[in-house]
Amino acid sequence: MTYQGLIHRYRHLLDLPAHTLNISLLEGNTPLIPMPRLSTEFGCDLFVKFEGLNPTGSFKDRGMTAAISEAVGRGAQTVICASTGNTAASAAAYASRAGLRSIVLIPEGKVAAGKLAGAIAYGAEVIQIQGSFDDALSLVVEITQKTSIALVNSINPYRVEGQKTAAFEICDVLESAPDWLCLPVGNAGNITSYWAGFKQYQKGLPRVLGVQAAGSAPLVLGHPVDKPETIATAIRIGRPARGEQALEAAQQSNGRIIAVSDAEILSAQKILASEGVWVEPASAAGLAGLIAESAIGKFDTRGKKIVVVCTGHGLKDPSIITESFTSPKIIPANYEALLSLVGA
Ligand code: F0G
Repeated sequence: MTYQGLIHRYRHLLDLPAHTLNISLLEGNTPLIPMPRLSTEFGCDLFVKFEGLNPTGSFKDRGMTAAISEAVGRGAQTVICASTGNTAASAAAYASRAGLRSIVLIPEGKVAAGKLAGAIAYGAEVIQIQGSFDDALSLVVEITQKTSIALVNSINPYRVEGQKTAAFEICDVLESAPDWLCLPVGNAGNITSYWAGFKQYQKGLPRVLGVQAAGSAPLVLGHPVDKPETIATAIRIGRPARGEQALEAAQQSNGRIIAVSDAEILSAQKILASEGVWVEPASAAGLAGLIAESAIGKFDTRGKKIVVVCTGHGLKDPSIITESFTSPKIIPANYEALLSLVGA
């Protein structure tokens, strides 16, 4: 049978109310891409779960199909979220698909171009907050407590239900859980969802390496960060809503949450791209964490099956590439100029 999306495929495993409809863009079913060069380098079987191949370009679509399907089924007419960009684009797409109004609050000037464009294109009312993601999240929590507007951030439990499906898919492909799962951590909904998914699916449990950006690492520091900063704007978050659960996932899995520098994130992004997988900076944090830990002898990769979750597509944040890679040379439109440049 042709693929019909996550709710169709996994509804029996998802704790969704009976009124939940099925608003789908055929999200999920993303590839688990083998990475032969990285595997050789680290003496392991390394795979990338490429979540950038979801309909709006990030893993958020997994949770959003569930949250919007539930919201519209209960009669909601307007949904709202705070976002560093990807949730905004996803909420906008699924809300429009369902015929709902969507409002997204984003931190002014800190959302990558591809995400902002997506949110606008899909029809969200985009509001820039003169503050951080954390400020935006407090505002949407308040308005959804006081009005009938539905919240679709990952505080919404149905988001977590939908996002569990990525763990199911990994187990289906590998026929068991991997030894390690490495992924970025921002608001901590995704790490919470993966852990819940692996526990429920009963195909074994991975150790979980959650990775924050050093300038936005409340879970590593052990306290909120008032002015989070990082080039990986997707995870520029100082007060993760599901921080406790993220720490629990790391601890229960015998894993940990660590921080990596922006330079390490950009370097991991280049390494992934050099093996054909272009992801946005935050999405490279999982690999950056693996590389950093293995370099200091804290992560024995040898003989392990490792899944690195790449949460969003490189196209989301194109400007980071023109800033940090070499820009294309310009030549006159003639053959001599071309030949002298390529030096064949
Ligand atoms: N990677 C990407 C590309 C993201 O967009 C996010 C979160 C994360 C990782 C972290 O996931 O929050 O579940 O720990 N983006 C949210 C947003 C905050 O608004 O799009 P998390």
